[in-house]
Amino acid sequence: ESTPLADRGFVTVQQHILSEQTRFPGASGEFSWLLSGITLATKLIANKVRLAGLNDMTGRAGAVNVQGEQQQKLDVYADGVLAECLAFRESIGMLVSEESEHPLVLREDASKSKYAVVFDPLDGSSNIDVGVSVGTTFSVFHKPDDPATANDPAKWALQAGSKQVAAGYVVYGSSTILVYSVGNGVHGFTLDPSIGAFLLSHENMQMPQQGRYYSTNEAYRDRFPPHYGEYIDMLRRGELGYKYSSRYIGSLVADFHRTLLRGGVFLYPPTTEQPDGKLRLLYEANTIAFLAEQAGGVALSGDERTVDIVPTDIHQRVPLVVGSKMEMDAYQRMA
Ligand code: AHG
Ligand code: MN
Ligand code: MN
Ligand code: MN
Repeated sequence: ESTPLADRGFVTVQQHILSEQTRFPGASGEFSWLLSGITLATKLIANKVRLAGLNDMTGRAGAVNVQGEQQQKLDVYADGVLAECLAFRESIGMLVSEESEHPLVLREDASKSKYAVVFDPLDGSSNIDVGVSVGTTFSVFHKPDDPATANDPAKWALQAGSKQVAAGYVVYGSSTILVYSVGNGVHGFTLDPSIGAFLLSHENMQMPQQGRYYSTNEAYRDRFPPHYGEYIDMLRRGELGYKYSSRYIGSLVADFHRTLLRGGVFLYPPTTEQPDGKLRLLYEANTIAFLAEQAGGVALSGDERTVDIVPTDIHQRVPLVVGSKMEMDAYQRMA
C-alpha cells in the first residue's frame, strides 16, 4: 500500500486549495476547479518563458494595447492561454485582462455564474527578452450582492480590493513559484518541472517586520512628489536602524516577491507625467496589496489603504507603497 502524498511531505497546490476550501461552509469544488484553470495556464506560460529565445517568443507582437504599450509576443500568448483556460469554467462569468480594453463577459447567461477573475497575464514586459524574472497576477471576486450589478457581469470587477476572495501571482524566476491567498494566510508553491506540479514550499508566509532594501525606479525621483524623495533619504541615512540598500528589478511581481520574503518597501509613486503612477489598481496594486496584508504587511495608495479604493475604471492606475510594518509606519508618518 502506498503512503499518501501529503504524508511523504508533498502537498500539491490543488490539494492545498481543496483543504482551504473545506473551511468555507457550502464550498462546492467550483472554486478549486477555477484555480486549477489558473495553475494550468501558468504552467503553460512558464514553459514558454523557459524556452523564450528558442521558440520565437521574444520581441514585439506588433500591436499597441489599451495601456498605450507595445505588446510583446509573450504578453499576447499569456493573455490567450489564461482566457482559454478560464473561459470554460462555468463558475466564472467574466474576465478582465491588462491586455484587453473591455471586460470579457464569457457567456450570454454569464450572470448565472459566481465569480469574476482579473489578471495581468505577463508582468514585467521589459524583462522578457533579457532573461530576467517576469510574472502573472490574478484576483478573484464573487459577483456583487447588489442585484443591479449582479445582473450586469461587465461590472463585476469594479469592486474594492478588500472584496477579493482570492489573489495570487506566479513568478517565473530562477524557479517558478506560485503564491496565493484565500484570506487565510499566504502560501507559496514551487513548480517541480519534472512532474509538472506546484508543491508546497513556503507555508504561511509572513513578511518580516523590517527589511534592508527599498525598491523604486530612482531615475524618476525628481518627478516624484517631494515627500517620497525625503522618505528614501531617511531610509538611506539609517534612521530606522540600518542604512538601506536598494533592489529594483522592474517586474512588480518579482520586486514584491523579494519584499514578501525579505521585508523592506516597494514604491511606485505618482510622477509629473503619470499623476496616478503606473500600476493598475485591479490586477497589479490590489492583488499585491491583498497578499501583503495577509502576510502582515501594509499597502497604501497615497494615504489610503489600496484595497479600500472603489474602482471606476477597469484599467485605472494608482500609486503604490507596500512593505513591512516598520517601513510602512515610517512612510505614514512622512506622507
Ligand atoms: P507590465 O509589464 O505588466 O505592463 O507591468 C510593468 C510594470 C511593473 O511590472 C513594474 O513594476 C513597472 O512596470 C516598471 O515600470 P518602470 O519601467 O516605469 O520602472
Ligand atoms: Mn503591460
Ligand atoms: Mn504588470
Ligand atoms: Mn502585463
